[in-house]
Amino acid sequence: MFNKLKTKWRVGLLRLLLILCVFAIGGSLTGIVGRKIMGLSTVEHPVAWALLYILLVTICWPLLVLLVSIPFGQFAFFRNYLRRLWNRMTGRTAVKTAENQMNTIRLAIFASGAGSNAAKIIDHFTSHPQVKIVLVVSNKPEAGVIAIANRHQIPVLLMEKERFFRGDAYLPAFEQAKIDYIILAGFLWKVPAGLIAHFPSRIINIHPALLPKYGGKGMYGHFVHEAVIAAGEKESGITIHFVDEQYDHGAAIYQGRCPVEPSDTPDSLAARIHQLEHEAYPRVIEKTVLGDN
Ligand code: GAR
Repeated sequence: MFNKLKTKWRVGLLRLLLILCVFAIGGSLTGIVGRKIMGLSTVEHPVAWALLYILLVTICWPLLVLLVSIPFGQFAFFRNYLRRLWNRMTGRTAVKTAENQMNTIRLAIFASGAGSNAAKIIDHFTSHPQVKIVLVVSNKPEAGVIAIANRHQIPVLLMEKERFFRGDAYLPAFEQAKIDYIILAGFLWKVPAGLIAHFPSRIINIHPALLPKYGGKGMYGHFVHEAVIAAGEKESGITIHFVDEQYDHGAAIYQGRCPVEPSDTPDSLAARIHQLEHEAYPRVIEKTVLGDN
């Protein structure tokens, strides 16, 4: 449950605990204040009393929660939370205003290769009201993904190995771009712990096999498909998962399956896997970052 909330609200563990404290204290205070005020009222009819109590709680709860959130340093979270709740209750659709842009979820795509997944993700989120691809990051100047980013006028950051593995060297660039989530789409460097610590449960990877099988160091692209075929597997697939400090290890978000035919070559299997990836990855990312899982 904690992990689900952390993902849904895009917060780390400490922040999640502070938010839950605010909910608990705000809720208890609402009960106390509500009963105190009702004690002063002269209403006796039970239905009128219940209606008045509900009205009181509906007004007091947001006010008290906002008040309590201030000393806990969580005012911005609760202001946005209540705003979203209000919009949902009143059925207000998202209008693209400066205010909504502040709430846009900003993604960076990391890719080392051709970038067919990156292209599908970019297409999927073009004109999306809540999610935007704001940066494409690569470690290879000749990677196809760079041309794709240029075509879509998305800024590109080319990283140097030594600086990347330091963990924090590119953080100022990510902070400046206000990145909320990092999406790995065929990115072949291991993500350093320092970067993971800054994006807890907010780095997502796709792997072209059914993890935990055929994952780990050196298992990428066609090496995976060769190993699957060599092992005589009847089935393969894709795994979309959060990234942790170990290769291809973090919690799985989604798995999709496909058959391995006796006549398959690594290339034909790769083509089938790519199709699965292109169909699933953009919508799984959308659900995950919007907390709709
Ligand atoms: C994809 O199949 C992805 O699953 C794989 O690299 C390919 C990139 O293709 N990733 C890994 O193997 C990571 N371990 P693309 O550049 O056409 O999107």
